[in-house]
Amino acid sequence: MPLNILITAGPTREPLDPVRFLSNRSTGRMGFALAQAAAEAGHAVTLIAGPVALPTPPGVRRVDVLTARDMLAAVQAHLPQADALIASAAVADWRPEACSPTKLKKAQMAGVIRLVPNPDILKTIHPQKGSRTFVGFAAETGEPDAEAARKLREKGLDLIVANDVTAPGAGFAHDTNRVTLLYPDGRREPLPLLPKLDLARRLIALLPTLR
Ligand code: C5P
Repeated sequence: MPLNILITAGPTREPLDPVRFLSNRSTGRMGFALAQAAAEAGHAVTLIAGPVALPTPPGVRRVDVLTARDMLAAVQAHLPQADALIASAAVADWRPEACSPTKLKKAQMAGVIRLVPNPDILKTIHPQKGSRTFVGFAAETGEPDAEAARKLREKGLDLIVANDVTAPGAGFAHDTNRVTLLYPDGRREPLPLLPKLDLARRLIALLPTLR
């Protein structure tokens, strides 16, 4: 049965002034591969994308956002129609407390950039989960399982896709990924090194089994 699938992808960008921002190394490849795989499988797909340099996969409705707060608002706007949410975006955890309307002078910057935490999108929308399926990602440096299992619990997910972004062929800016799937009942399924599109197809095929 075709599902309505909401996917977040890419980094978020948190402005400091008109020319500078805080972000991370996410390229959006995993999320765009998920959107492509979901559309190919006949699902209706809305892709909420941070600033990335990737073409929109055919048949996918794309919503571009910049900041974590924009991404949260877009997720909240599209969640009511969604059967499943796959949160593959690498949301910036912190943002500069203020964004200067004019370019900050070098001397103004030393030691005065105060950061405030961004909202956690998955935690914020959890009260609206209902019967929807929520899938998250956990990118760690080093053995990811313990951290990923904690995030699975704390964010109330049906599945978390854990990877060590420093492992060969895994993580940011690679076309392959090696992940372990962790389920709420404690099941753990390590997958082999796979092209991101093959991994995306496997994850999309799993979605109906998680409901
Ligand atoms: O806590 P951490 O950022 O490692 O968690 C990763 C998972 O949580 C990903 O699925 C990511 O999209 C999501 N996330 C979120 N809001 C944040 C940070 C992460 O929804 N502010």
